[in-house]
Amino acid sequence: MRNFLLLLTFLPIFLIAQPVFRGAKIVGNYPNTFFLHTIAATGEKPIVFTAKELPVGLSLDVSTGIIYGTAPKAGIYKVEVSATNKSGTSTQTLELNIGEKLALTPPMGWNSWNVFTSDIDEKIIMEIADAMVNTGMRDAGYEYINIDDYWHADTREADGKPKVDEKKFPNGMKHVADYVHSKGLKLGIYSCASEFTCGRRFGGYGYEEIDAKTYAEWGIDLLKYDYCFAPWNRKTAIERYTKMGEALKNSGRSIVFSICEWGVRKPWKWGAAAGGSYWRTTFDIFDHWKGNNPFQLSVMQILKQQIGLEKYAAPGAWNDPDMLIVGNYGKGNATSARGKFKGLSDTEYQSHFALWCMLNSPLLSSCDLRNMNDATKNILLNNELIALNQDIEGKQATLVSKKKGIWVYKKELSDGVAYAVFNTNSKQKSFVVSELIEKKIKGTVKDLVSGKVVSNSGEAINLDAHQTFVFKVNR
Ligand code: GLA
Repeated sequence: MRNFLLLLTFLPIFLIAQPVFRGAKIVGNYPNTFFLHTIAATGEKPIVFTAKELPVGLSLDVSTGIIYGTAPKAGIYKVEVSATNKSGTSTQTLELNIGEKLALTPPMGWNSWNVFTSDIDEKIIMEIADAMVNTGMRDAGYEYINIDDYWHADTREADGKPKVDEKKFPNGMKHVADYVHSKGLKLGIYSCASEFTCGRRFGGYGYEEIDAKTYAEWGIDLLKYDYCFAPWNRKTAIERYTKMGEALKNSGRSIVFSICEWGVRKPWKWGAAAGGSYWRTTFDIFDHWKGNNPFQLSVMQILKQQIGLEKYAAPGAWNDPDMLIVGNYGKGNATSARGKFKGLSDTEYQSHFALWCMLNSPLLSSCDLRNMNDATKNILLNNELIALNQDIEGKQATLVSKKKGIWVYKKELSDGVAYAVFNTNSKQKSFVVSELIEKKIKGTVKDLVSGKVVSNSGEAINLDAHQTFVFKVNR
């Protein structure tokens, strides 16, 4: 009897320690081009991976879960992957969707801009890649390391090819890409649809083919394409983005195209046709909760601007309400605006992350991953919130109610529905799930943010100022 009780006590621990798959369960890639995907799984290390019916041309590194090689011809390949550690084995189907679309779930990764602006170099980028692995972010599904503005030399090469700043990248961009790929991660870069980038480095206009080809040679996996110093009208923007979108498609590599014209010309209506996998819907995010500067946006301003855009999001075509500011604490080179913005509270960063997950935003962290405090790690590594973001259905949440400053978002999932209850008030408020949402939700609900389980038989739930409660109802 005693042994039996002991077993019952320890059983859940064993179950928890078994590997759990995270991140994308469906991966898009162009046929016959370089393929890289890391099977993300949490659980006690070492974990050994297997993959059944991996298409010819692809290999699996069994100790890291990195799948790499050349993608097969167009088609849908269902690969049964397993992850085993000393507590057990988990299996799942990973769908390789080889065709015309990339980013079939919102891209997850990191971008240099918010925290470093121009202060980037090879060493920092490689250390960030290391940190993405060492902090467990890769295991949670984070994948891209995106270099933003200021990687450029003063001028292009004599033959027109793009050139890196040799002081910052003494071994060239391919060297950085090779390193990032060796970690099972992907490398993103930045340019602009005009003569200059926003930081006045050389832009891509007129050099689309040569840039796309060179990026492919360097091993670039994503391009963020900005719109400073370009003609304001929509027609020109569509032409310029389409030109680069096509050049990337013809580059011989699967390069995700991130459109960044700040939502000014409604890119949700034409971004996918221009070849974009996601498009910014707003001007830049800054590290404050609810200011009203039209060019230095707060989290609340951005949230208001997302209302109604959900109908434009679909797998491979996402709205991008800008990068995450989680963990910047008023110290980001870009997002603090020279000390003007002091940052958010952890509760606010948590809400920002939870709502970006609900909105199917790309999850691009932009703090210094080498020095995150525990609160930042907890926020960025919340697997249950990430699972909502990465759900294969690809449905962005809709804001369904706004009573008394409590905003309720509803997100349809492949296996149920998720709700986020967000207290926009600057004081504590309470709510009752069945009164606010649906009478038929019975039993208990678990807050995916705090992990707290709450009875739904009329129990009032307190939400602090700016706090968010997220729960899922399975079908
Ligand atoms: C614009 C973009 C930002 C960043 C900077 C770089 O402001 O919106 O995200 O890329 O340019 O200069």
